[in-house]
Amino acid sequence: MAPRPLIAGNWKMNGSLKSLVELKPIAEAAERLRPRCDVLICPPATILSASHGILGSAAAVGGQDCHAEASGAHTGDVAAEMLADLGARFVIVGHSERRTDHDESDAVVRAKAEAASRAGLTAIVCVGESEEERKAGRALDVLRAQLAGSVPEGATPDNLVVAYEPLWAIGSGRTATSADVAEAHALIRSELSDRFGPAGVAGIRILYGGSVNPDNAAGLLAIDNVDGALVGGCSLKAETFIAICEAVPDLREPASAA
Ligand code: 13P
Repeated sequence: MAPRPLIAGNWKMNGSLKSLVELKPIAEAAERLRPRCDVLICPPATILSASHGILGSAAAVGGQDCHAEASGAHTGDVAAEMLADLGARFVIVGHSERRTDHDESDAVVRAKAEAASRAGLTAIVCVGESEEERKAGRALDVLRAQLAGSVPEGATPDNLVVAYEPLWAIGSGRTATSADVAEAHALIRSELSDRFGPAGVAGIRILYGGSVNPDNAAGLLAIDNVDGALVGGCSLKAETFIAICEAVPDLREPASAA
């Protein structure tokens, strides 16, 4: 059985106490849509606790990054355990903006994903090729290498979500073609399956991210092996984010909670 889709909002470095006003309608929609999809908001760490207070049990909250260590002399960093302490259930690791802005290698991303698991969080491990890599016909090789380097041993549906975010589609208004998305997601499923066995991997969610909006969401979510979306810009406003959640097809049988 296909896993229940997850619609995740990544607020990136946006949002303040004022933005919490968006969360009440998102909580109401998530409650209404519960049999169809799980909903997650990853706000900045500064408002994670307040976000959890508003979303309650209707929708999950997650961090956007974590340190690999549980504690120590790492000024400005946040441990996975600290996110869990605030009510987070997920944490994004290896987003391309962190890989680029902070030079995060696959090994660093893997250590962060291991930290997430240690803290009882589900890691959302991001992978994706650059435009140059796609044009050079290397997209699938890049994904293979990122998966091999970034995904820790012992992956299960409880500790791992993979997000495929082609770099050139992020914030650009351009999305990958359905065929390219299908090919990338099939490759991700098969790489995970080769490594961890098909039984456990069938339940691991593979999200698509990159310029997902209310107009293209239904088409993207209908593609094989697309088990949800990681939404940036359109997650900042309740109206557009809820419209994306509502685009989840009402076909799949309810699965266990996120
Ligand atoms: P956009 O939806 O703004 O393209 O961002 C995608 C993304 O990076 C989500 O993590």
